[in-house]
Amino acid sequence: MRILVTGGAGFIGSNYIRHVLAHGRDERVLNFDLLTYAGNLENLAGCEDDPRYGFRRGDIRDRAFVREVLADERIDAVVHFAAESHVDRSVEGPEVFVSTNVLGTEILLEESRAAQVARFVMVSTDEVYGSLGPEGKFTEDTPLAPNSPYAASKAAADLLCRAFHRTFGLPVMITRCSNNYGPYQFPEKLIPLMIANALEDKPLPVYGDGQQVRDWLWVEDHCRAVDLVLRRGEPGRIYNIGGCNEMPNLELVTMLVDRLGKSRDLITHVTDRPGHDRRYAIDADRIMSELGWAPSLEFREGLAATVDWYLANRPWWEKIRSGEYREYYARMYGDRGPDDATGTRS
Ligand code: NAD
Ligand code: DAU
Repeated sequence: MRILVTGGAGFIGSNYIRHVLAHGRDERVLNFDLLTYAGNLENLAGCEDDPRYGFRRGDIRDRAFVREVLADERIDAVVHFAAESHVDRSVEGPEVFVSTNVLGTEILLEESRAAQVARFVMVSTDEVYGSLGPEGKFTEDTPLAPNSPYAASKAAADLLCRAFHRTFGLPVMITRCSNNYGPYQFPEKLIPLMIANALEDKPLPVYGDGQQVRDWLWVEDHCRAVDLVLRRGEPGRIYNIGGCNEMPNLELVTMLVDRLGKSRDLITHVTDRPGHDRRYAIDADRIMSELGWAPSLEFREGLAATVDWYLANRPWWEKIRSGEYREYYARMYGDRGPDDATGTRS
């Protein structure tokens, strides 16, 4: 199989590429990524030496270039991770979320159809379902009720996927997962932000009362699930993926502080995120019973492994936080740095 992975330089995409390469199949894995502020080729250090791996810098909104790459590389499967992924940024500026997540997905679907791609996995999110009360879980039949511009843009992309399957027969599967955690997560997201701040003895900004609940999913377990859906999922079907690890944010941040041996006094309650979803919880019965997937790690184990990774890879996140990695892209790609979302070609 020749697989195009969009967003392969991001957190989950890079873990997914490592996962596929580690399985030793004779498959081409092409990373197609714009390298926005969130894309970092250091996440794939070592993969460049693998003859099965390739990278093309490009924008999923650049129709002509998407078409060219799909044809040149004779792609027969697409795993679509590329997105603007951070909720807080979508509150600050929704437009790029619509542009990348909606228009970019539409272009990718249309060009995949034209190229007669045989499998297309849309990596979506539980946020499309909105917020839960104290009880219950999201199933694949829960109505869509997105609350942030990010979630709305992902829901729109999901609906386009559905339409391309129903109207044109494109073999699209949609996955909807909960909050991922693990190595290479960009330090704007809760867990790496709290680890990095704690290690630098900076305040740990907990939004509102910190009683919002997220269901934490070990990134490697997520990658395994996406790969199963790619190979064995049924076209037109949606698969929820969850970690069975519900936890209020404040409890999680306290666990991190204790593990790092830092003072709980660093925890600071700050103004809540507008429209903040209170609770997410996933019913993952379908992927478990139909594809035989199950999470492999207890949350405490995964969290310990994550903390150890951030301790052992301090230069990785320090470069991001200092902005040094941007200078690297300026050297690599001339005038277009990672903040430039206008698109450029490799
Ligand atoms: P990320 O922000 O770490 O990575 C996104 C990647 O997409 C980056 O490498 C970026 O350069 C690339 N990208 C952005 N715009 C692009 C464009 N126009 N063209 C090509 N590449 C572009 O995101 P992530 O956390 O790895 O999430 C990956 C996917 O999984 C997203 O679709 C996200 O919505 C979904 N998701 C993430 C989580 C999570 O917990 N992180 C949970 C559920 C779903
Ligand atoms: O549920 C899946 C989603 O999980 C994905 O679709 C998104 O791409 C991903 O970013 C993530 O969204 P969240 O908004 O849940 O993740 P984030 O890490 O930003 O926040 C997790 C929780 O922690 C959330 O309730 C907000 C809170 N939070 C976050 C930050 C960054 C804080 O209290 N303080 C913070 O500084």
